[in-house]
Formats: sequence, structure tokens, C-alpha cells
Amino acid sequence: MIDKIHHVGIAVHDLDEALKFYRDTLGLHVHEEATVEDQGVRAALLTIGESEIELLEPTSPEANMAKFLERKGEGLHHICFQTDDVDGDLETLKGKGVQLVDQKSRPGIAGMICFLHPKASRSVLVELATPMEMYRG
Ligand code: CO
Repeated sequence: MIDKIHHVGIAVHDLDEALKFYRDTLGLHVHEEATVEDQGVRAALLTIGESEIELLEPTSPEANMAKFLERKGEGLHHICFQTDDVDGDLETLKGKGVQLVDQKSRPGIAGMICFLHPKASRSVLVELATPMEMYRG
């Protein structure tokens, strides 16, 4: 069951430059930094209440995130909804004919995650995530 916005993902050219605003000017706390090689991103996660801001910088010019930045420039990349059962929700959505990016959940920065196709959600890329401490496999 989807129950809150886990994080908002923002594509940036330069993570350190972006942190000058989100961390230094707004005063948000960076609780994690991670590089996810198979997704081609270097990320910083900032706490904002019960949710997070996820700043995403491409690790190489070939990364999908680099292509996104080329096409659209910096800005909103995706919204992530938290669910206690990413696999169950994915099966339910498949059953409803929703277009997906991922057919199965996979490990991501926010836990076990999957992406729905933006065509399903009015051109907003939607991620579903079950944090690892909640994930039952
Ligand atoms: Co995300």
C-alpha cells in the first residue's frame, strides 16, 4: 500500500554545486551519500520532515541521467512513493495494465524499488520504494 512521498528526485549537473543551495542555504541535513554504479548516479539524500530530497548527478556522459539532463536540463526527475510491499503493488499495477519501466523490483538507494513508465502517470516518472528495513522479499 502506498502511504507517503518517500522522496523527490532532482537531476543536477554538479552535486556539490546543488548542495550549496539544498544543504547550505536551506539548511537540510544530508543523511546519506551514495554512488549507484548500475544506475550511473551519484546521489545525496537530504532529510525534509518524513520525506527526502534526492539529488542525482550522472557518473558518466553515457548514464541515463546525463541523457535526461541533455534533453530536459536540471530539475524534477521523479517522485518516489513509499509502499510496504513494492512487489505486491507492482503485480497489482501489472494486472491493471499500467506501463512499467521495471518488471521486477531491484535494489536502489531508497530500498527495493521500481519505476513506472511516465506515460502511465501524466509524464511524471514515478518510483515505488519499500525501504530495506520494511522489505519482506
Ligand atoms: Co529515487
